[in-house]
Amino acid sequence: MGVGVVYPIAAALKKAGNKVISIIGSRTKDLLILEDEMKKVSDQLLVATDDGSYGFHGFVSAVLQNLIDSGEKIDQVFTIGPVPMMRVICNVTQPYNIKTIVSLNPIMVDGTGMCGACRVSVGGETKFTCVDGPEFDGHKVDFALLTSRLRMYCDQEKQAMEGSRCGCHGN
Ligand code: FES
Repeated sequence: MGVGVVYPIAAALKKAGNKVISIIGSRTKDLLILEDEMKKVSDQLLVATDDGSYGFHGFVSAVLQNLIDSGEKIDQVFTIGPVPMMRVICNVTQPYNIKTIVSLNPIMVDGTGMCGACRVSVGGETKFTCVDGPEFDGHKVDFALLTSRLRMYCDQEKQAMEGSRCGCHGN
C-alpha cells in the first residue's frame, strides 16, 4: 500500500530532474500495485516479492542493499510501508549516511494535534505525526516505541475482526 503514497513523491522528484530508482515490493505478485505507474516516473524500477512469485525473491531492503553494494550513488531514500520494513531500510542506509525519509503511521484519533494519540519520538523529541509529519528523518525515529504503541489495541482489533465474522456485517 505504501506505493500509493510514494508514487506522487517519485513523480515530483522525477519532474524536478532527479534520477529516480524505485523499489516496490509485496508479499506476493497478486498484491503488487501501481507497477506501470511507478515505471513511468522512474529511471529504473525494481520489484521484489517475499515469496519470489515476481521479481527479486526477498525483501525490498535486500534489493536496496544490492544497489548500494553495486556502487550506485544514492543521495536520498524515501521509504513508505510497514513499520518493520521502514525500520530495516533505515538500518541499511544509516552506515552509509544516506538521508532516509520515512512516513509514519501511528494510531491517530483526532488528526489535529490535540489528542496526542499519534505521538512518536524523533531525535529524542516528542512529535505528533498528524501535524508534525508524517514524514520524518528515519535515522532519528524511535522505532521500538512506535512498534509498541502500534500494538496497543491488538487484542481489541482481534476481537473486532472476529466480531465482523458474526454475520451482522454480512461475512
Ligand atoms: S491524532 Fe491526535 S494528536 Fe495526532
